[in-house]
Amino acid sequence: MIAGARGLLGQKLVEIFRRESELEIIPCELTAGNGEIIALDITDRQKVLDMVGTLKPSVIINAAAFTDVDRAEVERETAYKVNATAVGYLAEAANIFGAKLVHISTDYVFNGQKGNYDESSLPDPISYYGKTKLAGENLAKAQLDDLTIVRTQVLYGFGVNIKRNFVLWVMDMLSKGEKFSVVKDQIGNPTLADELAFAVLKTVRRNARGVYHVSGFEAMSRLEFAVKIAQVFGYDPSVILPTTSDKINQKAKRPMNSSFICLKAQTELGVSAPPVTDSLSLMKQQMKHAGVLS
Ligand SMILES: NC(=O)c1ccc[n+]([C@@H]2O[C@H](COP(=O)([O-])OP(=O)(O)OC[C@H]3O[C@@H](n4cnc5c(N)ncnc54)[C@H](OP(=O)(O)O)[C@@H]3O)[C@@H](O)[C@H]2O)c1
Repeated sequence: MIAGARGLLGQKLVEIFRRESELEIIPCELTAGNGEIIALDITDRQKVLDMVGTLKPSVIINAAAFTDVDRAEVERETAYKVNATAVGYLAEAANIFGAKLVHISTDYVFNGQKGNYDESSLPDPISYYGKTKLAGENLAKAQLDDLTIVRTQVLYGFGVNIKRNFVLWVMDMLSKGEKFSVVKDQIGNPTLADELAFAVLKTVRRNARGVYHVSGFEAMSRLEFAVKIAQVFGYDPSVILPTTSDKINQKAKRPMNSSFICLKAQTELGVSAPPVTDSLSLMKQQMKHAGVLS
């Protein structure tokens, strides 16, 4: 059972699990769609219990989340319900009906003061979004042993009707040909959603438990990433101007350096990521194949 199946990661999970695993996939989303996606609002405890009790999935993967970091500062109640309370409901249902839960979390559980965070690093979220995601992790841990928490960051990729991720935003700006600014002081590891979905499959295959950091292996600033995007997609990178976080108006505080060490996923699960330019090239191919890029 995959919750949040219409989101970026959710779409990739459905695709990769269908292609690579023997499991029967049940995609769920806030609203039903195209005949195969089942409606499930994860903040509705009774519906979660009913659905898990009826379908009895062996594995529940939670890719559903309130992902707008700035909106989470204002719409606090909704953000907490989706990112924390609802994760508790999924864990409760998994515990009652004997399912494994794989829950997706974030680098925003860290304060970003030092970078190179591994699974033993102490969380200290500085945004409300980060606080809700940490609360979600803890609510799940409190109720379930058969639990995998996969933390990721700077997630990007191509999908159908998805929200604009960093790469799509940069491409949009580049295509206008006008100068625009990108921060040079926010550092993280860009992660292609397809590669993350594949890592999630590996956690399920190996019956992994506990926390895993899964991201691309190259830590870089958003500015460096934007330049690579321009190069791979064939745009002029000189229109990208450097700026700093104090000069842009982001409602939520960002961790400055939330880079990951992913050694645990590499050694225990055999998860490895290619260079970011290869991952961007794969995304480019997908966009060409879908006819949205010439
Ligand atoms: N994007 C990043 O850079 C990033 C970084 C680190 C970690 N993550 C984590 O990675 C995971 C996947 O992120 P993503 O980028 O794929 O997110 P996404 O594209 O925003 O997808 C999330 C999905 O969850 C759905 N959803 C929201 N509320 C729900 C509810 N109450 N019940 C059921 N579904 C609900 C959303 O539907 P609506 O669109 O209708 O709201 C959306 O389809 C999340 O856990 C996120 O926190 C993301």
